[in-house]
Amino acid sequence: MSPDSIIVRSVTKRYGSNDHAVVALDRVDLSIPSGTVFGLLGPNGAGKTTLIKVLTGISDITSGDAEVAGFDVRRQSLQVRARIGWVAAEVILDDDFTAWENLWLQAKLQDLADWKGRAEQLLTYFSLADRKDDKVSHYSTGMRKKLEIALALLHQPSVIFMDEPTIGLDVATRRMLWDIVTGVHKEFGVTVLLTTHYIEEADALCDRIAIIDHGKIIATGTPSELKARVRADIVRLETGEELRAEQLAAIPGVQEARAQGVEWIVRVGSANDFLPRLFATIRTDQVRRISVDKPSLETVFLDLTGHGIGGDEPMRDIRRFYMQMRRARS
Ligand SMILES: Nc1ncnc2c1ncn2[C@@H]1O[C@H](COP(=O)(O)OP(=O)(O)OP(=O)(O)O)[C@@H](O)[C@H]1O
Ligand SMILES: [Mg+2]
Repeated sequence: MSPDSIIVRSVTKRYGSNDHAVVALDRVDLSIPSGTVFGLLGPNGAGKTTLIKVLTGISDITSGDAEVAGFDVRRQSLQVRARIGWVAAEVILDDDFTAWENLWLQAKLQDLADWKGRAEQLLTYFSLADRKDDKVSHYSTGMRKKLEIALALLHQPSVIFMDEPTIGLDVATRRMLWDIVTGVHKEFGVTVLLTTHYIEEADALCDRIAIIDHGKIIATGTPSELKARVRADIVRLETGEELRAEQLAAIPGVQEARAQGVEWIVRVGSANDFLPRLFATIRTDQVRRISVDKPSLETVFLDLTGHGIGGDEPMRDIRRFYMQMRRARS
């Protein structure tokens, strides 16, 4: 197999007719090395799901071409399908079925003859073996997610796609899922392409990341490579006396100063140069707390796109999650 599990060459995806066309992917180029966890990070409507849809053959490509697991997604879609697994953002389990019946259904859909041994192995791996005859409606959210991943792995794919695997999950379940994704990738040797709009998730989970916005890939790299692109330090400062933004902005090397609650967040070219200048401006006994942060992926995202990633409010997620649940059940 080629060293890259996924190769995308100048892929454009346009929805709709020419007058009202939406360009969901705009000449996307990507190469995703085998055996990595690769994250597609972008806000709502960026084109993340669309990219998964074209790579899995659910949507056709308008122009450009792509390969998955060594096969052309357009011309060799059957070979591609045999080698990929897909964990959708929406719920795909049948609630009235047991875990075992869901696996059976998946085997039928995939036309797998010899699946029972693999199914047992997956249930054991995900610690679901003793609950395999329980209806999925009695499962917790984390157990459902595990079962969904087990279904995606049943036919031994070499690449799995996970569209927003942790959307709508509480923090603890999200962390558990991070461990599962890392574990699955190591245990089964699969390449994982996941999408997320959680910056800390991309940072924690992914070997490499592509930042996508308005259908365009605007940066790719390891989380640390991406962070190294931002030439700035973030100084957090809390003072006893009132500070004005202009006072801070007047200090050479300050790129931005904004108040957040009781503290100031000051973005500077170099904290080493900035701190002596700051102490020449304000009285040191007025400093209650000061700390220096290296740029986060959030800073990178802001820098590259000119806007925040948005959509991190839990309400939005929960609402969307339940909407998806209802849709899936109807
Ligand atoms: N079937 C469709 N018909 C028309 N436009 C579509 C269709 N599917 C997606 N789009 C549009 O394509 C763009 C990209 O959508 P996509 O679902 O790929 O984004 P996304 O990054 O997955 O967003 P989210 O984070 O909300 O899931 C959006 O403008 C969307 O409205
Ligand atoms: Mg999506």
